[in-house]
Amino acid sequence: MPVAIDTHGLRKRFGKTDVLAGLDLSVPTGSVFALLGPNGAGKTTTINILTTLVRPDSGIARVAGFDVASAPEQVKQRIALTGQSAAVDEVLTGIENLVMMGRLSGLGRHAARDRAAELLERFDLTEAARRRVGTYSGGMRRRLDLALSLVVDVPILFLDEPTTGLDTRSRQELWRVIRSLAEAGTTVFLTTQYLEEADRLADRIAVLDRGRIAAEGTADELKSRVGGVVVELRSADGALLLELPTDGSVHGLRAAIDELDRSPAAAAAVGAQVAIRRPSLDDVFLAITARAAASAPELIESK
Ligand SMILES: Nc1ncnc2c1ncn2[C@@H]1O[C@H](COP(=O)(O)OP(=O)(O)OP(=O)(O)O)[C@@H](O)[C@H]1O
Ligand SMILES: [Mg+2]
Repeated sequence: MPVAIDTHGLRKRFGKTDVLAGLDLSVPTGSVFALLGPNGAGKTTTINILTTLVRPDSGIARVAGFDVASAPEQVKQRIALTGQSAAVDEVLTGIENLVMMGRLSGLGRHAARDRAAELLERFDLTEAARRRVGTYSGGMRRRLDLALSLVVDVPILFLDEPTTGLDTRSRQELWRVIRSLAEAGTTVFLTTQYLEEADRLADRIAVLDRGRIAAEGTADELKSRVGGVVVELRSADGALLLELPTDGSVHGLRAAIDELDRSPAAAAAVGAQVAIRRPSLDDVFLAITARAAASAPELIESK
């Protein structure tokens, strides 16, 4: 499968921090790729480099077959970016925003209007088209923002935390839109802090940890990397007290149960019960990032 985005040894340092410490990525054309990481992991920095807004200190990044450093114009013609800070004008209506963007992108008056109407329809904003954006909900705004970045058809779309701050319903609406773009053949590169989002949307997921890709694969591949089972300790009324990922071996399970047994939470809770379950992507994330921090798995204290 042809590659839409690939990077080799990408590095970026801000002050004394290596935000990216040798990033290697490969995103197949037509796929949805999720770069997953906590606050400050370097997600926006990665997007900024791939969209030519920031230069890497070293390493190579190619987008749509063009080098971001030597051919930024060719890259820019083939991408759209919806960032963490929205580009919408609150005083204008939805349709005015879209028509203005179309005109700025070189469309004629009629073409800009047609394109705006088509995008409003596609993003479920037709009814709100003539309202000022200042009155839109967070989810509507995010959909308009996405529509604005698609006024000109591009093969590769970058979405920086597309659903952060949205409620469940708006998030699901946006997921639907993103999936339909992917089904129509757009390569989508998104960043997220939500494991569920990566799980639901992405063909492949890369976990960004301390400036490097700590793990990469499909959601199922990542889950099977953790393997085994998670041992949990629940109070008599079912509240989760502690949980511990294990490799699923007899030895691993016994060690985990011993560790739970020794824990202050177990000692304090009368009638606490042990249960085991399959790992979730959350467990994968914790296991991968904990493994990178120290070779031994950590006991994860739940809130
Ligand atoms: N222009 C800059 N100057 C100095 N430091 C920066 C700059 N841009 C980013 N950083 C630092 O680089 C690190 C990574 O930032 P980045 O915005 O890429 O993280 P992120 O994964 O997008 O986080 P978030 O989830 O909060 O959006 C942070 O520690 C940030 O403070
Ligand atoms: Mg960011």
